[in-house]
Amino acid sequence: MKILVTGGLGFIGSHTVVELQQKNYEVVIIDNLSNSSIDVLSGIEKITGKTPEFHNFDLCEREKVNQFFKNHQDLSGIIHFAASKAVGESVENPLLYYENNINTLVYLLKAQTQFQQANFIFSSSCTVYGEADKLPITEDAPVKQAESPYGNTKQIGEEIIRDTAKTYSHFKAIALRYFNPIGAHESAEIGELPIGTPQNLVPYITQTAAGIRNELSIFGDDYPTVDGTCIRDYIHVVDLAKAHVVALERQLQDSCKTNFEVFNLGTGKGSSVKEVVQTFERVTNQELPHKIVSRREGDVVAAYADTQKAKNELGWATKLTLDDALASAWKWQLKLRQTH
Ligand code: UFG
Repeated sequence: MKILVTGGLGFIGSHTVVELQQKNYEVVIIDNLSNSSIDVLSGIEKITGKTPEFHNFDLCEREKVNQFFKNHQDLSGIIHFAASKAVGESVENPLLYYENNINTLVYLLKAQTQFQQANFIFSSSCTVYGEADKLPITEDAPVKQAESPYGNTKQIGEEIIRDTAKTYSHFKAIALRYFNPIGAHESAEIGELPIGTPQNLVPYITQTAAGIRNELSIFGDDYPTVDGTCIRDYIHVVDLAKAHVVALERQLQDSCKTNFEVFNLGTGKGSSVKEVVQTFERVTNQELPHKIVSRREGDVVAAYADTQKAKNELGWATKLTLDDALASAWKWQLKLRQTH
């Protein structure tokens, strides 16, 4: 069966392509390399022994999207990762985010419904919940006013898909709301490739340990949490990738309860920033230089997933731990040092 993976050379996309190929799906990737590298393709090949079909174009180019669908009428499913994802950049350049994340989604859905293709999986984010009233966060928790244009594109994206599902009965969609994906494939052939200074915690930690950054700044230790630092649900990217295959198979087996479904993808366990730093130090047996600085604007105090719905409905739960994730992220960082 042929599966389209947009953004298939990105961080989560590439790990999902590996899991799909290992389950014998034939993968077609569309990626414009705006936040990824062509080298990822050979990483995928090294792990799986298979080369996915690759198309380098921007999904904002509507004619190319239509042409692609005309030439690929045999797709069994679409997993849509391609999107811009830097919160700060989205505040500076909101229209770029609406163009990249919303236009592309609309073009894809138009082509998909026109060609009567059924199955669609959307990369969403726990950011839609904002500062949740209750923890752990269930899928029923209200969607809060988005903190950034990036977050808003995920909310609007889900609404566009919900409306599409109401109108087209042949169309089935699942939005997967990721908590904090970290780590890398155990082979260290693929991993996260941040461009410039990393905005996210774990790549900043590994780059600091590798000597690329002087020290980690911890954004605030005066939050109402155990140790004053923010709490997040860090999920190993390989566990996350496997959830996409499970969600796709739910659609392929026609097991969806409604034609638009939403699932949280997390471990269910919250870890503080200090805990992540300490775990990294223990797992890699080295000290990580760090200092406390003031809070970062837009950060929520705590977010971790209620995992019951994913367990009950998808039969999926995470298997890998924070230790595994941080060890794999470090192994990947060391590999990057050798090859770049
Ligand atoms: N942090 C630091 N120092 C850093 C980087 C991060 O202390 O250098 C802290 C943050 O303050 C936060 C935690 O580490 O408490 C995690 O931060 P990340 O940037 O790694 O992840 P976020 O939880 O901010 O990001 C998530 C999703 C995004 C989403 C965002 C919305 O990954 O997709 O929430 O707030 F947009």
